[in-house]
Amino acid sequence: MNSWVLSSSPFLVSLFFIFFFFIKIPLSLCDEDMYESCSNMFNCGKLNNIGFPFWGDNRPNSCGYHGLKLNCQGSVATIKIMNVTYQVLGVNPEAQILKITREDFSTGICSPEFVNSTLDPTLLDFGSGLQNLTIFYGCDFSLIPFAGLGLFNCQINGFAHIKWGADGPGECKVSVVVPVPDKFGPWTGIEIDQSKLEEAIREGFYVKWKVDTAACLNCTVNKGVCGYDLKRNRSTCYHSSPVFWL
Ligand SMILES: *[C@@H]1O[C@H](CO)[C@@H](O)[C@H](O)[C@H]1NC(C)=O
Ligand SMILES: *[C@@H]1O[C@H](CO)[C@@H](O)[C@H](O)[C@H]1NC(C)=O
Ligand SMILES: *[C@@H]1O[C@H](CO)[C@@H](O)[C@H](O)[C@H]1NC(C)=O
Ligand SMILES: *[C@@H]1O[C@H](CO)[C@@H](O)[C@H](O)[C@H]1NC(C)=O
Ligand SMILES: *[C@@H]1O[C@H](CO)[C@@H](O)[C@H](O)[C@H]1NC(C)=O
Repeated sequence: MNSWVLSSSPFLVSLFFIFFFFIKIPLSLCDEDMYESCSNMFNCGKLNNIGFPFWGDNRPNSCGYHGLKLNCQGSVATIKIMNVTYQVLGVNPEAQILKITREDFSTGICSPEFVNSTLDPTLLDFGSGLQNLTIFYGCDFSLIPFAGLGLFNCQINGFAHIKWGADGPGECKVSVVVPVPDKFGPWTGIEIDQSKLEEAIREGFYVKWKVDTAACLNCTVNKGVCGYDLKRNRSTCYHSSPVFWL
C-alpha cells in the first residue's frame, strides 16, 4: 500500500530540486528585477525624479498604487483620476501634493468630457483654497429664464453658464463640477469673461496623496526601494539581492 509512495519518492525529491532550481531562483531574480525597475524614476518634461507611490512609463505597476499611474505624452505628464485625465503641472513629494488641471478643458470650456472632477478618497484629497464651480451645458434660454453667472455660446453644446458650488444640471442638459483656486472667485458680477474662466480652470488645483509613507521611509533608510504588493494590496520594500554564486 505504501510502496507506491516509497517508490515514487525519488521522483518527489527530484521535483523538489526542480522547484529549487527553476522556480525559487527565478523568484528571487524577480525581486531583484523589481528593485532595479522601481529604482527607475519617472521623468517627463519639467517633472523629474518621481518615484513611489507613482508608477507608469518606465516604472511597472508593482512600483506604485494602482490609482497613481503617470503617463508621459510628448513632454506632458498626465494622470487619470476617476475617469478624468489631468495634466500634471507639478509634484511636491515632501508635501505629498500634486498640481493638476483637466486636460479636456485645455482647449476651452465648450466641449469637455461630461464628467465631474472627483477623487478616489482612499488615495487623494482636494487641497485647500479651492472653490467648486459648476458649468452647465445645453441650456435653452429661450425656454428657461436665465439665472446664473456668465453666459457662453458654445455652438457645439448650446448655451452654457456657470455657478459657484457643486450643482446638478437643473433645466440644462448636463452639469460639470470643477475645482478652481479661490483667488479666482467667487465672482460677484453677472458678466464673466470667458477667457478669465478658462484661465481659472487651466491654472489647476492641488490634491494631496495620503498613502502610508512611514513604511516607505523605513524602506529607503534600509537601502530598499518602495513598491506596491499587488497581491496583498499594500506597499512593500524591494531589496537588491546579494551577489549570486552557484
Ligand atoms: C469610468 O467609465 C466607465 C465607462 O466609460 C464606467 O463603466 C465606470 O463606471 C467609470 N468609473 C468611474 C469611477 O466613474
Ligand atoms: C466640491 O464638491 C464636492 C462634491 O461634488 C465636495 O466633495 C467638495 O468638498 C467640494 N469642494 C469644496 C471646496 O467645497
Ligand atoms: C456632477 O455632480 C452633480 C452633483 O454635485 C450632479 O447632479 C451632476 O449630474 C454631475 N454631473 C455629471 C456629468 O455626472
Ligand atoms: C521599521 O523597520 C524596523 C526594523 O527594520 C521595524 O521594527 C519597524 O516596525 C519599521 N517601522 C515601520 C513604520 O514600518
Ligand atoms: C486588492 O484590491 C483589488 C481591487 O482594488 C481587489 O479586487 C482584491 O480582492 C484586493 N485583494 C486583497 C488581498 O485585498
